[in-house]
Amino acid sequence: MREVMDDILHTQCDYDPASGESYDFDSDFNIHAGPVDTAFILDHLSYKSPYSDQLLVEELSLKISQGTHLLVVGNTGTGKTSLLRVLNRLWEAHSGFVQMTTCFGPRGTLFLPQKPYLTDGTLREQVIYPLKDIYPVSGSVDDDRIIQFLELAGVSSLLKRTGGLDENVDWNWYDVLSPGEMQRLCFARLFYLQPKYAVLDEATSALTEEAEAQLYKTCKQLGMTLISLGHRSSLEKYHDVQLKLCGGGRWELTQLKGGSSSSSSLNHKDETM
Ligand SMILES: Nc1ncnc2c1ncn2[C@@H]1O[C@H](COP(=O)(O)OP(=O)(O)OP(=O)(O)O)[C@@H](O)[C@H]1O
Ligand SMILES: [Mg+2]
Repeated sequence: MREVMDDILHTQCDYDPASGESYDFDSDFNIHAGPVDTAFILDHLSYKSPYSDQLLVEELSLKISQGTHLLVVGNTGTGKTSLLRVLNRLWEAHSGFVQMTTCFGPRGTLFLPQKPYLTDGTLREQVIYPLKDIYPVSGSVDDDRIIQFLELAGVSSLLKRTGGLDENVDWNWYDVLSPGEMQRLCFARLFYLQPKYAVLDEATSALTEEAEAQLYKTCKQLGMTLISLGHRSSLEKYHDVQLKLCGGGRWELTQLKGGSSSSSSLNHKDETM
């Protein structure tokens, strides 16, 4: 997981909260900058896992644009998380074209991985991660915001357990927090960082539907465009379009929200959201 996060951070674009200026880690990334309202462009994309000859998805074309929330569903092993690996360039596409037109970070896209990623250190460091590595001096001016977001995420009780935002804890966060608490803490981080696009891989799988509703509502109030991967049908109501991975390379795109429900035929070409 550390490796994956390091990989992601290598191409991270971030900003200085004081100046509001954007900050590029990898200037090469900007060469591919696309329209401001688009995060990802997939064009006849086919991909598979590195050790298999079987395509997980074949000839998928779609554009992920700001304000259109996408839900990706499919049985276990159909390639939902693998799609993110391809988008992240951790895996190469088998064929076709994939472009991420935003940067990683608060001004672009943030990923909440299927296995929550926690850092070592204080509660503040958990919430502001990965900003600490960039701005080692995170002042107390942020305290009110951090506490507010811990409350919105339903984990303000951690303040008492840690003894405050800046107390060093002598436990391993993974050992002590329940899976649901870990997921909520990751949402507190997301609320704090407020990216344009949030990619949520089974990010509420350990939570009740009520908790899920509250967290999704807050993400939307903060203006994020959501790309969720999950199994639960309760997720449908927070999204506009559904991509279903059917196995064997096949997939379907469907309009959600009771609109003119246009289920695409398999391997539809040139879908645009
Ligand atoms: N690092 C890897 N190396 C080789 N194969 C992998 C790797 N990661 C995943 N796979 C395989 O790729 C296939 C798709 O995995 P993926 O994680 O995308 O499934 P998923 O749809 O996200 O499933 P789930 O619903 O369980 O999260 C699986 O058969 C999996 O075993
Ligand atoms: Mg997965």
